[in-house]
Amino acid sequence: MNFILTDSYEQMSETAAEFLTEELNRKPSAVFALPTGSTPIGTYRALARLNKEGKVDFSQGNFFNVDEYVGLSRESEQGYYHFLYENLYRHVNVDLEKTHVPDGMAENPEQTAEQYEQMIDGLGGLDAAFLGIGRNGHIGFNEPADSLHYATYCVTLTQSTIEANARFFRNEGEVPKQALTIGMGTILKAKKIILVANGDDKEEAIHRLWEDTSLRTDFPVSFLRLHPDVTIITTIK
Ligand code: F6R
Repeated sequence: MNFILTDSYEQMSETAAEFLTEELNRKPSAVFALPTGSTPIGTYRALARLNKEGKVDFSQGNFFNVDEYVGLSRESEQGYYHFLYENLYRHVNVDLEKTHVPDGMAENPEQTAEQYEQMIDGLGGLDAAFLGIGRNGHIGFNEPADSLHYATYCVTLTQSTIEANARFFRNEGEVPKQALTIGMGTILKAKKIILVANGDDKEEAIHRLWEDTSLRTDFPVSFLRLHPDVTIITTIK
């Protein structure tokens, strides 16, 4: 696991954008998983700039949301597809046909999850999983639990995640209780993993990841230790 310590949020974001740009330049049709949340916004801003400067071309790339809330549609303002559309897709020359999200409105979430996994596999799996980290050590919405899921699945969110994400809703009660997320296997099968972390509320998780080498299902990010190509870009010392 390679840690890159940066001095500021801007530097963290620029460094992550460089990694993603390099991947897309190496393989223009690369398959990416992309997260939402506060942390990657700067990276998306940097990618939009690099795209405008002609330094990276999104037109052939394939982009999969890491997760989506159950009960929210592609159009929903609090939904995760909308987030990526607003923060990245509408600013770059992406082919929207190549942007994907699990259908949060599906009548049968399990079936949707399976189809999502198959779609990723059908394109040869993820070339790069770009991730944030929850204060409880979740990646995607793979929450701390007795066991972890291999493939995309429907997860019941923990109270810690609901509280952390309440800021994006009018109140905590509005935060969906379930989500569809790519699984730990989907992530660990990616050829490359890039994770960004900043802010006081992530300090404990990053220190634990740094110091504790055990693999624990109650700390899902610890499983990244099994992967040969993980880069954690962080402002946390
Ligand atoms: C969201 C996702 C989550 C977030 C994590 C951190 O798509 O996959 O794992 O990356 O909850 O969120 P922020 O960046 O808002 O602290």
